[in-house]
Amino acid sequence: MNLHSRFIPSLQGELTVPGDKSISHRAAILGGLAKGTTEISNFLCSEDCLNTLKAMEQLGAKVEVIESREGYGPTKFRITGVGMNPVPPQSPIDCGNSGTGMRLMAGMLAACPFDSEMTGDDSLCSRPMGRIMTPLAEMGANIEAKGNKAGCAPLFIHAGKVHPIDYTLPMASAQVKSAILLAGIFAQGTTIVRQPAITRDHTERLFHHFGIPCVENALTISTQGLATPKAKDITIPGDISSAAFWIVAAATRPGSHLTLRTVGLNPTRTAIIDALLRMGADISIVKTSPEGASEPYGDITIKGGRPLHSIELFKEEIPNLIDEIPILSIAASIAEGDTVIRNARELRVKETDRIATTAANLRAMGVQVEEFDDGMIVRGGAPLQGCELASFGDHRIAMSFLIAGFSADGETSLTNTDCINTSYPGFAQDLQAILS
Ligand code: S3P
Repeated sequence: MNLHSRFIPSLQGELTVPGDKSISHRAAILGGLAKGTTEISNFLCSEDCLNTLKAMEQLGAKVEVIESREGYGPTKFRITGVGMNPVPPQSPIDCGNSGTGMRLMAGMLAACPFDSEMTGDDSLCSRPMGRIMTPLAEMGANIEAKGNKAGCAPLFIHAGKVHPIDYTLPMASAQVKSAILLAGIFAQGTTIVRQPAITRDHTERLFHHFGIPCVENALTISTQGLATPKAKDITIPGDISSAAFWIVAAATRPGSHLTLRTVGLNPTRTAIIDALLRMGADISIVKTSPEGASEPYGDITIKGGRPLHSIELFKEEIPNLIDEIPILSIAASIAEGDTVIRNARELRVKETDRIATTAANLRAMGVQVEEFDDGMIVRGGAPLQGCELASFGDHRIAMSFLIAGFSADGETSLTNTDCINTSYPGFAQDLQAILS
């Protein structure tokens, strides 16, 4: 499917973005492992998260849909977990496009007393899995990566028993941290993960929610096995990574006034807002979650109008806005001056090489970009030219450049946009509503 956008003077009104992707994956995994029945509300019914839910069914969890939204899909599930006794899957576990699904579930499967196989689409089968295989092997797991590319899926996970480790992450990755912690709850004793920088802490928060021991001390996290998650209902807030498209859209169109409701405001995810505020955006936040909520959330209002200016991203904030860099680069292209994005080599191993794909599309729209191994400089202020662009099969690239079209001359069209369903079902409808 192709999607189109075009110049619009401003955006007005309210939007509610779908549930958080990272939290949905983790809720499905922990609800599926738990003892008892968990109701998950506002689950993200994107392909990525539905694949994780299906995987938990293959492992013996019972999943029922209890609410669906017309034209969107199921949003509320009841999941009865296996009480830490998953059954052997009868077929390979297909994670589709999802690195999070594959890396997190590999941690769990590595500790299971049966063989399993994990696979995914071409993009996922070219992403590095060595980063989880190394610590999991240290825990005693036996995983073979049999992909065409060394260290890549399909993964063959042999029946195993794991023991605790004390592991220092070589890169700031919440997925690797979470894979180790999930294996850690199957290991007798204390598993410790040390991070080089703060990464999203949804696994830790959900461990607390499900009553699993978890201690956070600055950059060090530990859990204590053997632990069994206790089922407990959960409502997932809106995904700030999906909200980011509309935040940038409104911040870059003068006269806009847009409110986004019940967006997750976990401090390990809000660096995109800090960066846009430094660029001069007018963004206000009203926290609406109750005190002590396991994940904070609230309403975000953006007023367009103040001209944006360039910034330099801080090294330590990169892990906390890594998924928002494509859309942030659109803001940078509209802002005055040169925005510097460095220390972001991880972008090269996302769903696509997001430094290359972002730079290619920015250049096609008339923006000057200087590319580095670990980032880019976006030279802002030149008029954007609408044109036909590739999504490269990457959901965030597709959505970012449809938003760029709001500020471009002529029509902007994105080819092959079905990938958007991996994280934001309903995006096309929201886009249509804004354009009409
Ligand atoms: C995620 C962690 C990040 C992020 C991804 C989701 C998670 O990946 O890019 O979209 O849910 O843990 P890394 O752990 O590879 O940085």
